[in-house]
Amino acid sequence: MSHHILTAVAWPYANGPRHIGHVSGFGVPSDIFSRYQRMAGNKVLMVSGTDEHGTPIQVQADKEGVTARELADRYNRVIAEDLRGLGLSYDLFTRTTTANHYAVVQEIFKGLYDNGYIFPRTTMGAISPSTGRTLPDRYIEGTCPICHFDGARGDQCDNCGNQLDPIQLINPVSRINGETPIFVETEHFMLDLPAFAEVLGSWLQSKQGEWRPNVLKFALNLLGDLQPRAMSRDLDWGVPIPLDGWRDQPNKRLYVWFDAVVGYLSATIEWARRSGDPDAWRQWWQNPDARGYYFMGKDNIVFHAEIWPALLFGYNGQGARDGRPGSLGELSLPSEVVSSEFLTMEGRKFSSSRQVVIYVRDFLARYDADALRYYIAVAGPETQDTDFTWSEFLNRNNGELVAAWGNLVNRSISMAAKNFGAIPEAGDLTDADRAMLERSRAAFPRVAAGFERSRFKNATNEAFDVIREANKYLAEQEPWKRKDDPERVKSILHVALQVVDDAKTLLTPVLPASSDKVHAMLGGEGAWSGMPEIQEVEDLDEPGRSYPIITGSYDGTARWESTPIRAGVPLAPPTPLFSKLDPKIVDEELARLGG
Ligand code: MF3
Ligand code: ZN
Repeated sequence: MSHHILTAVAWPYANGPRHIGHVSGFGVPSDIFSRYQRMAGNKVLMVSGTDEHGTPIQVQADKEGVTARELADRYNRVIAEDLRGLGLSYDLFTRTTTANHYAVVQEIFKGLYDNGYIFPRTTMGAISPSTGRTLPDRYIEGTCPICHFDGARGDQCDNCGNQLDPIQLINPVSRINGETPIFVETEHFMLDLPAFAEVLGSWLQSKQGEWRPNVLKFALNLLGDLQPRAMSRDLDWGVPIPLDGWRDQPNKRLYVWFDAVVGYLSATIEWARRSGDPDAWRQWWQNPDARGYYFMGKDNIVFHAEIWPALLFGYNGQGARDGRPGSLGELSLPSEVVSSEFLTMEGRKFSSSRQVVIYVRDFLARYDADALRYYIAVAGPETQDTDFTWSEFLNRNNGELVAAWGNLVNRSISMAAKNFGAIPEAGDLTDADRAMLERSRAAFPRVAAGFERSRFKNATNEAFDVIREANKYLAEQEPWKRKDDPERVKSILHVALQVVDDAKTLLTPVLPASSDKVHAMLGGEGAWSGMPEIQEVEDLDEPGRSYPIITGSYDGTARWESTPIRAGVPLAPPTPLFSKLDPKIVDEELARLGG
């Protein structure tokens, strides 16, 4: 059975290059999942883009002395290049400043407004006394009124996870210059979150046993204190509010998180419009059989497990005030919110300003994408906070990728190439041969179970167990000592090559580039798993404006099954699959870190 699967990947802020902590949260996990689902025969659509509005962009633009738009243009391109370099197989990676996105965001806002879930309210907004400018929520710090944590921000307390308004903070101060903000009256549009308490509650309860427990627990906790939440800001950079009297106000814009989460839908619509079938998006959003999986770091859970579902319920007319679906029709809720925990760097929090960081671009300049993907898959912050260390990276690269997997590929292919010039025929199989082949075949459903449920660590380790078994099998069978029995050598190498082919399939979601190489080395024809590319496209509605997107054709021949290798296919001596790293890179990299 083939299903439509939407892989919805968190949208990186276009306020700087992304580091490996970012991509360990949203990027690599979502790509492993998508690649597996495509191999299993499902119709995957993987969408995202750069998140370009709001204070995070404005504040960085002020720092760099450029406009918000200039900043977003610059980092949109940098980020797209980096994500492509990691091999992330987006069907569309776009941005939030397209005309299409603005239109879809405004449609969702109007739908919610018409159903009565968004209402205006006069609130108190923070102003910097020294500049007279609005002070963004997240740049105000103080004590949390709920848990009394000292470093709570104006938008959220990272300690208890509650959403806050700056005026609720005890002893608020500006993080920019330490001054105490003043609060003045300002009008905003509020999302009536309490009106969704019931639908959100039963929706989340229905996910028991399905979602990662930490994500579900966090989301259920939020239901305890649902307050109306402002969906607009005093800011000139963002999507205008689509109501008469508001549309043209230069200093009122939609809240960046309102516009960003709608990106999943707008990007699907943009993809459909570019595909030539403008209604194709409905298959992922309105087909009851379709599933939507959302990938992110844990600081995003509240927006994906509470705010985005509330927006969808409200647009559909499914909260306490009822209503009816807006003009797009009823939209599907997320099937799963898959969140990672945090990655730290050599025991410290990532920090660009303190140089405790390695950017994706710098990583890829020195190491292979697959080496990072592998590290994130087996040692990433899947269900708990995890530390990245260069020595673990070195050990896993040299011990697991080079010595275990690379070596298995290399010695199996080179022995067969040297002795027979082709994949040899198997003769009578021994018990050991049959056990090895069976072990490898049996791994398919087991590894699949891990990838399907986003248990990447288990899945990758299961695949590596096959590799370890195969190395043991070769060590026991000793084909290199059997010069007098070429028929037996043929059988052993046939078995070994079949297992190499299987392991390459099992590892394709994690290691797409090196699996493609193995596919070619074994005489496989055509593309195995596709790779993303950057295309320069015109905005669909704003002629003359162009931007880079990531897209690609991922319908290669990769299938989630053991494919019998064909005896007689010519083999050339292999080239190494991975590069062995010099232990001195550990000290070099540590010296690059600040502090
Ligand atoms: N830009 C946000 C971050 O980096 C993530 C936005 S995800 C979205 O934390 F869906 F809301 F776009
Ligand atoms: Zn708190």
